[in-house]
Amino acid sequence: MARKKIIAGNWKMNMTPSQAVELINTLKPLVKNDDVDVVFCVPAIDIIPAVEAVKDTNIHIGAENMYFEEKGAFTGEISPEMLVDAGVKYVIIGHSERREYFAETDETVNKKVLKAFEHNLTPIVCCGETLTQREQGVTIDFIRQQIKVAFLNVSAEQAAQAVIAYEPIWAIGTGKVATTQQAQEVCKAIRDCIGEIYDEATAAAIRIQYGGSVSASSAPELFAQADIDGGLVGGASLKADFGQIVNYDK
Ligand code: PGA
Repeated sequence: MARKKIIAGNWKMNMTPSQAVELINTLKPLVKNDDVDVVFCVPAIDIIPAVEAVKDTNIHIGAENMYFEEKGAFTGEISPEMLVDAGVKYVIIGHSERREYFAETDETVNKKVLKAFEHNLTPIVCCGETLTQREQGVTIDFIRQQIKVAFLNVSAEQAAQAVIAYEPIWAIGTGKVATTQQAQEVCKAIRDCIGEIYDEATAAAIRIQYGGSVSASSAPELFAQADIDGGLVGGASLKADFGQIVNYDK
């Protein structure tokens, strides 16, 4: 069965609650495409008004992060149950900015992935190499390590539902998009790695996105690759361009 594409916006630390509603109202008519799962991952404080604003549309709301404990004395954190209760379906886990600025590791990513599945949230698990790693030729080894730790103790059934976002760090917010070949090569290596950890069926089911300076002009070729099932889009998800990205095949 063909995998359904999933195209997600990652708003990062942009948009106040009222700006979020305004942006959703602008993008709503532009991101209609029933062949694609469309997700807006928004700042935590925007989630409730965003869920309200996307009612009766094809847009799903995602979170940009969550904590791996159920509840309790973790000042400032957001629990999976809070996300679910607010109407969230997807959650980005282990974005490179979280790893770099907020000390997230492969181990905390794994804890969050397990916790997300416990609550029926679909994790968008991020991985990606630095420019140095790419130049040293260790990209594939490094990504395989990230994936293996992120999926420790995750069942095949769960993994088949997961989304992985391959985002080379050097391509994020830099305007330097990976070449189609580079993106496809790593996404295929990720699928092969999932096949080794689990089985063919799980590898065939899991959805793998490319992220890093995706634009309306680069999306069509990237998303046409055999192992690229959509994108995680930062900057361009805050503009009308996101409508073109979601309708990359039109
Ligand atoms: P970008 O961000 O599209 O602005 O490069 C992508 C991301 O960080 O998810």
